[in-house]
Amino acid sequence: MVSPGALLAAIDGVGADRRRGGFSRHVFDDAERQLREWFVEQAERRGLQVTTDRNANIWAWWGEPGDDAVVTGSHLDSVPGGGAFDGPLGVVSALSAVDLLQERGFRPRRPLAVVVFAEEEGGRFGVPCLGSRLLAGTIDADRARALRDPSGVTFAEAMSAAGADPSRVGRDEEALRRIGQFVELHVEQGRGLIDLDRPVAVASSILSHGRWRFRFSGQGNHAGATLLADRRDPMLPAAELVVAARRAAGSVADGRATVGRLVPTPGGTNVIASTVDVWLDARSPQDADTRSMVADLTGAARELAAAEGCEVEVVEESYGDTVHFDPAFRDRLSGLLDGAPVLATGAGHDAGILAAEVPTAMLFVRNPTGISHAPEEHAEDDDCTEGAHALARVLEHLDH
Ligand code: GLV
Ligand code: MN
Ligand code: MN
Ligand code: MN
Repeated sequence: MVSPGALLAAIDGVGADRRRGGFSRHVFDDAERQLREWFVEQAERRGLQVTTDRNANIWAWWGEPGDDAVVTGSHLDSVPGGGAFDGPLGVVSALSAVDLLQERGFRPRRPLAVVVFAEEEGGRFGVPCLGSRLLAGTIDADRARALRDPSGVTFAEAMSAAGADPSRVGRDEEALRRIGQFVELHVEQGRGLIDLDRPVAVASSILSHGRWRFRFSGQGNHAGATLLADRRDPMLPAAELVVAARRAAGSVADGRATVGRLVPTPGGTNVIASTVDVWLDARSPQDADTRSMVADLTGAARELAAAEGCEVEVVEESYGDTVHFDPAFRDRLSGLLDGAPVLATGAGHDAGILAAEVPTAMLFVRNPTGISHAPEEHAEDDDCTEGAHALARVLEHLDH
């Protein structure tokens, strides 16, 4: 077996972000395309047959592609300045698990596939899990094609530039029929396994979560020549919304609200902004709580904007209800893996999208820093190897 650690080391230079630290690998950019090519080469080296579906997700088949396959995989893209493990660990662990099974002389009775989903983080076009949402039809195809990256390039244009056909994106019954069960391995994005002193867990649930863009509009003007009384500065309600979001999250059970991205236009030190875009990421265990948090913040944003003579427009960019992974499937895998602990997560995953369509489970590998979406995200080689062994056991078990 080539270990997950060795495979990750092989792609370590790809998409390294010297300005932010960590990695910036976004769908169809040079780094992500390089990783896709690397994956195809690794899959073919293992005798897997590679296809790309209508939604730019890559599939590597052991045996003939067919219905009711055992499928594993994750994504290769990252957040801006992200860690090395979120996404790639699930992909390389799948390759390592294939190595282990091939070394054992295992011959799958059912089709087995490794999948790489496109734009899981939404780091370029703003909608997370775009490849799996398109596959499942939970985002409108026209809307997806028209999504724009920060430089104005549409998803359709980026797909075409990468040699793919954007006219065919959308719910893909054939690809869905081919998934009998889906198992995604992922680096843990919290401290659960550190506290339990265990290397591998099985996932129970994902928080409801979504993204909203608040656009505050005022009057661009001169920073020195404009009296305070004459200003309509959209940065004021924007800043107050950031603080209100933290308070709102604290007012619901296990709520989380984050503003990680805020863009003033035109963005000059001596310029009162004409608009400020604020992206809110809100999550909680209960759909109703997440919804009411965002409704309250929308009301607050209107009042804050009006107080400064500004306007605000609010757009929901994505949303997903709370996901509870199939409890019987989850418990079966926990039993198979010597009573692996069962953990909930606050992070979104393609597995969360697929769970509405097919029996789906997730495995987590311990992250000794407890940090994710940042360069400090980590997993020890030994734990990654343990994860690959666990995944191989799961794949073998499911092949019946
Ligand atoms: C993706 O990792 C997310 O949960 O935002
Ligand atoms: Mn992530
Ligand atoms: Mn991920
Ligand atoms: Mn994710």
